[in-house]
Amino acid sequence: MNPIQEGRVVIVGSGIIGCSWAMAFASAGFQIKLYDIKQEQITKALENIGKQMKELEKIGMLKGSLKSDQQLALIGGCTDLKSAVEGAVYIQECTPENLEIKKKIFNQLDNIVSNDTVLASSTSCILPSKIFTGLKHVKQCIVAHPVNPPYFVPLVELVPHPETEPSIIEKTFALMKKIGQSPVKLMKEIDGFALNRLQYAIISEAWRLVGDGVISPHDLDLVMSDGLGMRYAFMGPLETMHLNAEGILNYCDRYRDGMIRVLKSFGPIPDFAGETEQKINQAMCEQTPADPAHLNARRRWRDECLLHLAKLKMEVKSE
Ligand code: NAI
Repeated sequence: MNPIQEGRVVIVGSGIIGCSWAMAFASAGFQIKLYDIKQEQITKALENIGKQMKELEKIGMLKGSLKSDQQLALIGGCTDLKSAVEGAVYIQECTPENLEIKKKIFNQLDNIVSNDTVLASSTSCILPSKIFTGLKHVKQCIVAHPVNPPYFVPLVELVPHPETEPSIIEKTFALMKKIGQSPVKLMKEIDGFALNRLQYAIISEAWRLVGDGVISPHDLDLVMSDGLGMRYAFMGPLETMHLNAEGILNYCDRYRDGMIRVLKSFGPIPDFAGETEQKINQAMCEQTPADPAHLNARRRWRDECLLHLAKLKMEVKSE
């Protein structure tokens, strides 16, 4: 079977997320145009992608059946949007999280794309209706929100605009599956989508527990990394409920009153400022000083952990 796929993918914006998307698409054999406004940025991005692919290949963690040189050869840089987009089947926008920048780029794309190109945005928290409303090709637009770094963390939230064609959602879903991601469909847009709503609920209670002097910042993080997080890498909160009793109905029977009592004791939304902010900052900086060298070293460690976890999940799945 020829591992090279038909149809070209365009990545708009070659920063952290754009590079990781490019690697994910290349691993599945797609031809990619990596577009950015600055040539130096593209050069740096391609160098960085090549280096990462080689390192992954060395440790046997490069995805796909193609060698790193073959995958890298599939990615071409481009600073001309019109030629980048020509013949594209799918465009993944990865420009900075700024509504004006995103509206401008989608307006430019609206004037040059064909009637069947999928236009996807990587936005973390801007609603599709804010970015896409009024575009001629609004029916072809969707948010495909990845988790950083998408090469190692497969989840992608697909969030439609109210006018997005169902066929575009299905096409995007199938494409994400093809490149080894794990897409989920939101039926309608909502602020924060699903992932950040869950994440913010956790951050909010973590902040309150530290702020109220119940637990130290270090121990709070352990509650997740050595507790809840251990099983959440394999199953979600709903299946956890199902298995932690004799099924969901039995879980609700046993724990309904307790859950409601505890939830009622949650305080107001923290202001994420002041004394608690100082306390958490101090604890985090003792562990990892907030300068680029220390942060990058810790990020490399995080990515290595995610890589091992991805490998473990693959092994567990294939058993
Ligand atoms: P970044 O700042 O690393 O990269 C942005 C890139 O866009 C830069 O290379 C910049 O030169 C380029 N750019 C700026 N204006 C442009 C334009 N008009 N046309 C083309 N390229 C342009 O940002 P990052 O972190 O990669 O984020 C990109 C998007 O992905 C954002 O919407 C962000 O919210 C989303 N996202 C980010 C995650 C993260 O953890 N970094 C996680 C999930 C989504």
